[in-house]
Amino acid sequence: MTKVLFVCLGNICRSPMAEFIFKDIVKKKGLEKDFYIDSAATSGYNERYKECMYQEAKDILKEYGVPFTEHYSRQIRKEDYDKFDYILGMEEENIKNILKIVGKDTKNKIFKLLDFTEKPRDIIDPWYYGNFDATYYDITYGCEMFLENILNKENS
Ligand code: 4NP
Repeated sequence: MTKVLFVCLGNICRSPMAEFIFKDIVKKKGLEKDFYIDSAATSGYNERYKECMYQEAKDILKEYGVPFTEHYSRQIRKEDYDKFDYILGMEEENIKNILKIVGKDTKNKIFKLLDFTEKPRDIIDPWYYGNFDATYYDITYGCEMFLENILNKENS
C-alpha cells in the first residue's frame, strides 16, 4: 500500500482537489486497494474555522466529473511524516512550511507535485489568482505523471 498526502496552504482548494483527482485516477486504473490518499494544510487557520472545500474547487471537480466526499481542512502533523510514503506540496512555499512542521526529509518523501513532470514548477494558488481550470489541468497532469513514475519504479 502506497500512502500519499497532498499538501497546500489552506487544504480547501488545491490539495483536496489533488486528493479527489488522484483517487479518481487510481480507481479508474483498478488500483484503489493499493493506495491510501489524504490531504492537509500547512496553515492551521482553516482547520480552526472548520472550513470545507471551497465552492469553486467543488464546482470544477463537478464540471470534470470527479467524485468527491465531504472534506474539512486539517493541518499536517509531525507524525504524518512517518505515516505517509509521499508528501506532495503544490509550491515551493508549501515545501518550506511542511519541513518546519515535520523536520528534516531524511527519507526523501517530500516533493512538489509537478516535480514528476517534464516541467517542474509551482501550482499557483487559485484562492488568490482565481483560475480553477488551470489548477485542475496542472493537478491532473501532475497526478498522472506521479502515478506513472511510481508504477515504473515498482516494476523496475
Ligand atoms: P489552497 O488555497 O492552499 O489551495 O487551499 C488557499 C485557501 C485558503 C487560504 C489560502 C490559500 N486562506 O488564506 O484562507
